[in-house]
Amino acid sequence: MVINFMCWPGTKLAWILALLLNLVITIKVYGQPPSGFISIDCGLRNSSSYNDSATGLRFDADAGFVQGGMRKQISQQFMAAAFNEQQKTLRSFPRGSRNCYTLPSTIDKKYLLRATFTYGNYDGLNKTLDGSLFLFGLHISVNSWATVNLTNWDPSEVVWNEVLTVAPSNSVSVCLVNFGSGVPFISSLELRPLEDTMYPFVNTSVSISLLGRTRYGNVTDFITRYPTDNYDRFWRSFSTLFPGMNLNTTNKVESLPGNNFFNIPSVIMQNALSVDMNYSGIIVSSTAHANLDTKSLQLLPIFHFAEINGSNPNRRFDIYSTGELLFSDFSPSRFQVDSMHQNGRFLRNPNASFLLKKTGSSTLPPLINAEELYWLVRMDNLTTDSEDVKYMIEAKNHYNLTRINWNGDPCSPREYSWEGLTCDYSKSNQNPRIVSVNLSASGLKGGLAVSFMNMVSLENLDLSHNNLTGAIPDYQLKSLKILNLSHNQLVGPIPDSILQRFQAGLLDLRLEGNPICSKVKDTYCSNKKKNIIQTMLITVTVPVVLVSLLVLMCIFWKLCWKGKSDHEDYAMYEEETSLHVDLRRFTYVELKLITNDFQSIIGKGGFGIVYHGKLENGDEVAIKVLMETSIAESTDFLPEVQTLSKVHHKNLVTLKGYCQNKKCLALIYDFMSRGNLQQLIRGGDDYSLNWEQRLHIALDAAQGLEYLHESCTPSIVHRDVKTPNILLDKNLVGIISDFGLSRAFNDAHTHISTVAAGTLGYLDPEYHATFQLTVKTDVYSFGIVLLEIITGQPLVLMEPQTFHLPNWVRHKIAMGNIHDIVDKRLLDQYDASSLQSVVDLAMNCVEHAAINRPTMTKVVSRLKELLPVVSTEKLSVSASTSSVNPMDAEIRRQFQLTISGVSNEEYSFRSGYTGGMSELIPLSGR
Ligand SMILES: *[C@@H]1O[C@H](CO)[C@@H](O)[C@H](O)[C@H]1NC(C)=O
Ligand SMILES: *[C@@H]1O[C@H](CO)[C@@H](O)[C@H](O)[C@H]1NC(C)=O
Ligand SMILES: *[C@@H]1O[C@H](CO)[C@@H](O)[C@H](O)[C@H]1NC(C)=O
Ligand SMILES: *[C@@H]1O[C@H](CO)[C@@H](O)[C@H](O)[C@H]1NC(C)=O
Ligand SMILES: *[C@@H]1O[C@H](CO)[C@@H](O)[C@H](O)[C@H]1NC(C)=O
Ligand SMILES: *[C@@H]1O[C@H](CO)[C@@H](O)[C@H](O)[C@H]1NC(C)=O
Ligand SMILES: *[C@@H]1O[C@H](CO)[C@@H](O)[C@H](O)[C@H]1NC(C)=O
Repeated sequence: MVINFMCWPGTKLAWILALLLNLVITIKVYGQPPSGFISIDCGLRNSSSYNDSATGLRFDADAGFVQGGMRKQISQQFMAAAFNEQQKTLRSFPRGSRNCYTLPSTIDKKYLLRATFTYGNYDGLNKTLDGSLFLFGLHISVNSWATVNLTNWDPSEVVWNEVLTVAPSNSVSVCLVNFGSGVPFISSLELRPLEDTMYPFVNTSVSISLLGRTRYGNVTDFITRYPTDNYDRFWRSFSTLFPGMNLNTTNKVESLPGNNFFNIPSVIMQNALSVDMNYSGIIVSSTAHANLDTKSLQLLPIFHFAEINGSNPNRRFDIYSTGELLFSDFSPSRFQVDSMHQNGRFLRNPNASFLLKKTGSSTLPPLINAEELYWLVRMDNLTTDSEDVKYMIEAKNHYNLTRINWNGDPCSPREYSWEGLTCDYSKSNQNPRIVSVNLSASGLKGGLAVSFMNMVSLENLDLSHNNLTGAIPDYQLKSLKILNLSHNQLVGPIPDSILQRFQAGLLDLRLEGNPICSKVKDTYCSNKKKNIIQTMLITVTVPVVLVSLLVLMCIFWKLCWKGKSDHEDYAMYEEETSLHVDLRRFTYVELKLITNDFQSIIGKGGFGIVYHGKLENGDEVAIKVLMETSIAESTDFLPEVQTLSKVHHKNLVTLKGYCQNKKCLALIYDFMSRGNLQQLIRGGDDYSLNWEQRLHIALDAAQGLEYLHESCTPSIVHRDVKTPNILLDKNLVGIISDFGLSRAFNDAHTHISTVAAGTLGYLDPEYHATFQLTVKTDVYSFGIVLLEIITGQPLVLMEPQTFHLPNWVRHKIAMGNIHDIVDKRLLDQYDASSLQSVVDLAMNCVEHAAINRPTMTKVVSRLKELLPVVSTEKLSVSASTSSVNPMDAEIRRQFQLTISGVSNEEYSFRSGYTGGMSELIPLSGR
């Protein structure tokens, strides 16, 4: 390993860490490993487990934890120099885009999970050195964790990745993802339970991945791990001679009782590094390996300090992260661990560089005992509902299914979901659920698995064209609407539980092509569509009630809409005679193809279900499949599509195509990768829009509406402006969706709309009196959106009485403090004067009388005026923080000086991190 030792001014000295040569692995005999340790040597021959010589830990083969893959050995030339036994064998995964290891765990428990990778030219292809990219992805459960980038990597070296995470269920999985740049492989996997109190900022939605963990001072072991560290964390040692000063003590160094956040072994704290008295600071800076892009990472440093000087010296220092003061005037306690961290706040610090700087009153320069540096791994994606997973795995085992892509979580992440499943992702904060299973013609044998019948979200089960035998089990179906068992070997009788649901019209049952049908002659045994009249006759009461309800609703609806019959611009479509729509027309089969058989639902709205899809050219699209088939006959759909196809604006979603025929009625739009505004402002706490981004999105939405109102003749009223209808593209540009649709629906005379135009809470109060929808209706709804953007609050608040959002804001303002309404996630980082103006504007939009509300043009110009104010304010704020903190300017200069190498005061060293891709050098000491 090479450590760059830097001294300014002076030359850059490269030190070969001589200690390495002395590193001797001592073979010790240890007791039982702590419970819960799982140590896997991937690719090891089954049943040849062994005790690791360095740690005494028992390593097992991986056969029970993974399916698929091939056992391999590193090439003979690297065998002798292998860093440890685990690096000698590996498992590679030439097939499948995602392959997962599943390790047993306890739900909600915290774990350290470590994976290592040694290529060792196992395939003889020199993949790491042939000049091409060689990399693959690593997932922790259903979230992406890291990229293992072995491009230009020495084949003998170990890459290790470590993550601290909370188990999402009773297993945690590690998946290798094929990016098409080389075959993924893995050498070892280690799971170590942590105490629940440890690393308090790690939770179900935040994991942290290791960039480096270092202990300072003169120690012989290059790596300190289990059994010194009970949790088997790897601590890499770092020490240096002049001007560095290695300190040591034999006194015990412990945490205060009750502080068990990190449980650092005393031995590690007994050594420290300081600098010669003539120096004033230490810069700890981690250079990442070229294969890891640290600029995009959000870092979390944890510093561990203890004063280990025997006397009680005056040692005080400040800790900076690229100019930002993290901790000021810190003084380490004697023989007691002080772990300095910012409670899970993540920092941007492209050079991973931290300065410990002596304060003016301090006698001694800073010291440091140990340090950990992590990067943020978001755990936004949820695993599939655990019951669904349990039953799917039962069914998979029942039929001995070995589909290559039935690996890892069934629904998540979306692009790796199991083939043949359709999942419902529409509730963004709930686990995805399985709604349909298609195992048609899958060679299934044996009886019908009851596991499927237990899945409470399953609506569609297709087991046709298999060799299923025996009787259909008598089972109370939960939610199943379609059960296709045709062309199997099933025998009768059909259980009552199923027959009753079929007869009530609740189940579409298909049994043709089974022995059962040789005796029974019922609709489910013919391959024609079931006879609706007949079903209706069987059960009379339900349909009669339904029909009368329908009729009543029809009449009621017509009455209500009389008053406003020919409002707005509807007439214009009548003039259009030849309807030429300048858009791609999709067929149902094409839609099936691009949505991968309607696999992933991204939303459910008043008009139908929205699916995710991918066009032939790779463009991602959202496909809105409209629910009401009555619309298909309606003359309104095509004119509507035609209008929409003519609307082009950067803040309006682009219609790419449509599908209209007996089988489908759908609109195809550009897919917006950041979801909708509601999800962003009401989503998790770990991502929050800043003030400026919020105003930008508001302006985007306002501009989209302005275009609909002012630039289209006659103007288009959106009718359903709300945060779920404001989508965000990858650059967080606000894009309005769902415009124009409501009209086609509401005016279809035969149609009984499930929703009135607009959504409760966003709907113009005047509408209730007049039933007139005008452009000012949209302005009202926009005002509500603006209030949501500012406050982050739901439309209706209970505190303690029920308030509609505008009233709550009025109430709060009347109570005297406008700042109380601002979204707490902004952490007070907004500009007070623009706040007042934005609130005024929003309140103006929600005026009761339409006539008092501004036009969208006015709204746009007001927002535009506010935005530059925000931007310049931000500059002056940051300027004033630097003047508030006199140290700041000085520090920044020192940083520059350090970089340009002119200071004779500063001393810096690099502790040889290689960015989570730490290099371990084989013992030969090359
Ligand atoms: C791999 O590299 C070694 C040494 O550099 C060379 O001898 C061997 O021929 C290479 N193999 C392939 C397949 O390129
Ligand atoms: C979550 O899933 C989406 C879609 O499958 C994927 O693009 C995204 O990267 C995932 N997020 C994380 C944190 O892994
Ligand atoms: C470490 O300590 C040993 C004596 O225990 C000494 O010989 C050696 O020079 C020290 N190394 C450093 C880097 O301080
Ligand atoms: C520990 O510190 C003492 C001086 O305080 C020094 O003489 C000794 O070499 C150090 N031991 C190591 C292993 O560095
Ligand atoms: C992988 O490493 C190579 C070589 O350092 C680098 O050029 C490339 O950008 C890296 N790729 C990724 C995705 O990190
Ligand atoms: C699945 O495989 C096991 C052993 O390989 C066998 O005993 C069992 O009968 C098989 N089950 C089915 C349904 O084929
Ligand atoms: C059912 O099994 C028979 C033989 O057991 C086989 O010939 C036939 O192809 C199977 N049918 C299906 C649909 O798998």
